[in-house]
Amino acid sequence: MRKNGLLISIDGTAGTGKSSVGLAVAAKLGYGFLSTGEMYRALAYKVFEQKLDPTDHDAVLALAQKLVFTFERQDNGALKMFVDGAFLGEKLHLEEVGAVASKVSTNKEARAVLTDKMRQVGVNGGVVMEGRDVGTVVFPDAELKFYLDASAEERAKRRVKQLEENGQKADYNAILAMIKERDYRDSHRAVAPLKPAKDAVVVDTSALNMAQVIQKVMEKISQYAA
Ligand code: DC
Repeated sequence: MRKNGLLISIDGTAGTGKSSVGLAVAAKLGYGFLSTGEMYRALAYKVFEQKLDPTDHDAVLALAQKLVFTFERQDNGALKMFVDGAFLGEKLHLEEVGAVASKVSTNKEARAVLTDKMRQVGVNGGVVMEGRDVGTVVFPDAELKFYLDASAEERAKRRVKQLEENGQKADYNAILAMIKERDYRDSHRAVAPLKPAKDAVVVDTSALNMAQVIQKVMEKISQYAA
């Protein structure tokens, strides 16, 4: 056990509800919750803002080294992230920023810099950390590792529903193709490809609702703690 409790990793493909599950689990445990994707998005935002080329290895690395992340714990456990003192909020979720994030996250040295910053947040435990490589690279020694997955078809359905609920138009086939392309890219990249850690509990969420996934994760945590 670490000073403040366990380090719990939740990795998996996009659109499996990792963040919602992670946040709910952190709140139940009184732990902090960190989404590591937000850190890649922050780097991407700065690259975008400064009009740098996301494939310019050295410029992206230099920027990553300069970034200062600070975190403020919210009542629900979420670690609110400030980048160079500023809260970037929804700007991090712009479509353009997501596209740049997917490129800068292939920069091996920049990944090492961000990985180091993630370790500083989680080293003492008491944290649920969500991402793609938390259980494999950031914390291979995490006490408990989860890997959430769902079929591409189910994730496309969920995304369509989400967009329609927000009053936006959604094309199921286009979304499905995008999800498949992203899965391929994420799992075939040379650095920290997306894959379950050998000791991860794999949860297929295709036929489960959020409450059932949270329940499954909490059961494993209680078994570990017992
Ligand atoms: O989970 P997300 O969509 O917010 O992640 C943004 C990008 O960062 C996405 O392209 C995957 C990448 N990422 C990563 O490479 N490693 C992580 N641990 C988390 C995110």
